[in-house]
Amino acid sequence: MNMNGKTILLTGATGGIGEAIARQLASAGARVILVGRSLNELRRIERELQHTAHKGFALQADIASAEGLETIRVALTALQLPVDVLINCAGVSLFGLLEDNEPAAIEKVINTNVTATILLTRQVMPFLHKEHGRILFIGSSFGALGFAGFSAYCASKFALRGFAEALRRELANTPIQIAYVAPRATDTRINSDAVVALNDALGNSVDDPATVAEAIEDLLVQNKLRDINLGWPERFFLRLNAIFPRLVDKGLQSKLPIIRRFARSSSNSISSTIPSTGKTAASTTR
Ligand SMILES: NC(=O)c1ccc[n+]([C@@H]2O[C@H](COP(=O)([O-])OP(=O)(O)OC[C@H]3O[C@@H](n4cnc5c(N)ncnc54)[C@H](OP(=O)(O)O)[C@@H]3O)[C@@H](O)[C@H]2O)c1
Repeated sequence: MNMNGKTILLTGATGGIGEAIARQLASAGARVILVGRSLNELRRIERELQHTAHKGFALQADIASAEGLETIRVALTALQLPVDVLINCAGVSLFGLLEDNEPAAIEKVINTNVTATILLTRQVMPFLHKEHGRILFIGSSFGALGFAGFSAYCASKFALRGFAEALRRELANTPIQIAYVAPRATDTRINSDAVVALNDALGNSVDDPATVAEAIEDLLVQNKLRDINLGWPERFFLRLNAIFPRLVDKGLQSKLPIIRRFARSSSNSISSTIPSTGKTAASTTR
């Protein structure tokens, strides 16, 4: 699919990965409808995209609320153009031991990453281009590899991956294509200071949001969508985990004392409310 002139509905556009996707696709000529909650951030990104051939617009909407979903429905009705690609990128994370996680924080992770994303997808489906509409779900490496300290987040991304797979099979006799994209750790504010420090201690790699955005454009220009996992050795560990989970249990057990130490130091808050140091050196798979 050539991105030029295509209409993209992008949630999480005010986040690190979302903004990078918006820049990448707007530069390729797409009309990106930027969905987020922060009006200031939406306005800033919109202003900055004026340098490209950007013909999109910003839409302030909380996807976890009925009002937010209605705002999106009304905007798409008024647009009178089909949506070529829906990119579900909005998400929150939660780091900490389960016993320390606040119930409200657990509910928010599941509600935002799973329920709200499913309801939004359902809401947008009638607006998808009937001949070549596409839906991308931004999941995580943690959607196929359970990781201590992220149990609720992992649960949400496993659920999202299952939803994407089931919907792809449900729509198999239609031209709509669906893919699940799993970034590894990426340098954005979703990672709290404790997570950044954990990542450092474990010595893992971290991607720049632009790397994720480039991978997404590379995927979208293909005729046939496929699920992708970003990063090596993450791809290897995901395969190993699918075949020999007990082996991965053993490998991860040796990291448990470090994970527990940083998890205990974590405020157990929802990711997007915690400022990150923005460190780029190293990080955990996500
Ligand atoms: N960064 C990583 O290490 C990493 C790794 C793997 C996967 N991911 C996934 O990548 C996606 C983007 O994450 P990111 O790293 O870019 O995080 P981020 O910078 O914290 O951005 C999160 C985005 O989600 C939006 N959002 C959250 N709740 C929302 C709601 N109820 N309604 C509307 N928008 C909402 C935020 O909007 P506002 O700020 O405007 O509220 C923001 O645009 C997430 O799904 C995340 O799970 C991230």
